[in-house]
Amino acid sequence: MIFRGKKVLIWSLNNYLGLSGHPEIREAVEKTLNEYSTGSPMGSRMLTGNTPQHLALEERFADYMGKESAMLWNYGYMGVLGVVAALVGEDDMIVIDALSHACIYDASFLCRGQRKIFQHNDMEHLEAKLRRARENHDGGILVVTEGVYGMTGDLAPLPEICELKDKYGARFFIDDAHGFGIMGENGTGAAEHMGCQDQIDLHFGTFAKGFAAIGGVTAGPKDVIDYIRYNARTNVFAKSTPMVYVTAVGKALEIMIREPERRARMWEITNRLQNGLREVGFDLGNTGSPVTPVYVPAGDVETGMGMIKVLREEFGIFVSGVMYPVVPKGTILFRLIPTTAHTEEDVDRTIDAFAKMGKMMGVLG
Ligand SMILES: Cc1ncc(COP(=O)(O)O)c(C=O)c1O
Repeated sequence: MIFRGKKVLIWSLNNYLGLSGHPEIREAVEKTLNEYSTGSPMGSRMLTGNTPQHLALEERFADYMGKESAMLWNYGYMGVLGVVAALVGEDDMIVIDALSHACIYDASFLCRGQRKIFQHNDMEHLEAKLRRARENHDGGILVVTEGVYGMTGDLAPLPEICELKDKYGARFFIDDAHGFGIMGENGTGAAEHMGCQDQIDLHFGTFAKGFAAIGGVTAGPKDVIDYIRYNARTNVFAKSTPMVYVTAVGKALEIMIREPERRARMWEITNRLQNGLREVGFDLGNTGSPVTPVYVPAGDVETGMGMIKVLREEFGIFVSGVMYPVVPKGTILFRLIPTTAHTEEDVDRTIDAFAKMGKMMGVLG
């Protein structure tokens, strides 16, 4: 990336599989652009925005995600809002992980049900919430978590959540933004990685990360997806996904399925980066995914900003700092996203820069 006129090595893009700018995607999109221009189809899916291409892409996603049916969204954010607000009525309850992405919190504000929050990945706390909910309440219960937590990289204990939701008659919706296309043998996501994809009631992924495009998809049982389609206001009252993105996402899916070696390569880069940074002495918490957080000692903002500046100005390494309100108060971290597009030389240069920066800043103990 060129930053203020200087070439830097960037670790901040969610371009996990290196699909951004892929020549086949470019070529397919150029063709679509010539045929349909930028706006087509005009109108919402309910009116004039539905096309055979949209329907065909939804079928391909249902198949890829191992669910009966799937539906597209213009943005992942709108997808999460739409699903939750459509499903959780005033007699229902939504139970979310405390570290959930802003869109899950906003969805819980938008829906008419009661909201309960359990401590991050704390299954005893989740069980206590579900038990109490079942004792006092007859309505439906929707548990919502991420699959891979986008800032900390740790995974939700999905098999345990599935067990609990069955025990208490709840349903489970996972926002798998950072796992979709990335985790599991076929890249289906965090639940495939943990062997419980079949038990997830509704699976959601965005196209803004691994697919290097824009939009999102929710997959699940056909009757539920049909219900969401006609009741999610962010679908009914919003323009349909432009054809250029239908093409881009369809092509990305094709390449992703055809070239599993892209994922294998991403893991090689991930392991080299994470092992190297740990060996040098940095704290990466308990990430279980490519998301690589580097925690700033004592959560000190000034130190963190200094570390970022040294990495950028002295070594040409660009990382983004993450602080409140994206992560809880008192935490500051850099989030590195290793991708298929990085090389071993990039990784080694970065580890070396972190080691030197750590000494200069006196943060390595
Ligand atoms: C967990 C999670 N959900 C939803 C979103 C929103 O997705 P989109 O960018 O497609 O709107 C993001 C994006 O950062 C995310 O990390």
